[in-house]
Amino acid sequence: MASFDDIVLTGDPRLKTRCAEITEITPEIRALAERMLDDMYLANGCGLAAPQVGELVRLVVIDCDYAGGRDRNPYVLVNPRIVAADGEPREYEEGCLSFPGISVFVERPSHVIVEAEDLDGDTLRYEASNNLMAVCLQHELDHLDGKTMVDYLGPIERMRALSECRRAIEAGALPGQVGSDEE
Ligand code: NI
Repeated sequence: MASFDDIVLTGDPRLKTRCAEITEITPEIRALAERMLDDMYLANGCGLAAPQVGELVRLVVIDCDYAGGRDRNPYVLVNPRIVAADGEPREYEEGCLSFPGISVFVERPSHVIVEAEDLDGDTLRYEASNNLMAVCLQHELDHLDGKTMVDYLGPIERMRALSECRRAIEAGALPGQVGSDEE
């Protein structure tokens, strides 16, 4: 069942671990994808990576349409890899279900092509440009290599963001909640 408690929060070493390739799409992998989608929708996120629920495998779920108030349109990406990341760099305000209470500005390439298997083992290609999907693909794939959005910040900015996040968690912020700026 979907639960906020299922989501691994900042400070957990699993968010800094490189995840393993999935060699076979087992019933466990299918169940994991379902669980991740349930958690993502519960928290109103547009993406979730397996390490964020404590599973160190290369699996990502994304739905950038639902957050815009439309019908659910979930993608499940098994062993996703970046084929191209180029285009004019764009800055975007990102949040992450593992960092309740904060959002940070991250600059990334504006155009991305990603290949991944789906749960049937078919290889699919995702291309996105200058939109939330382009950001989300890169953000979620980073998680599989133990990288999070705060790693793009300078040391002082990162410390500030992390302490703000810790305060938010102590104050009861849940995954998906982004607090208003205090300053
Ligand atoms: Ni994230």
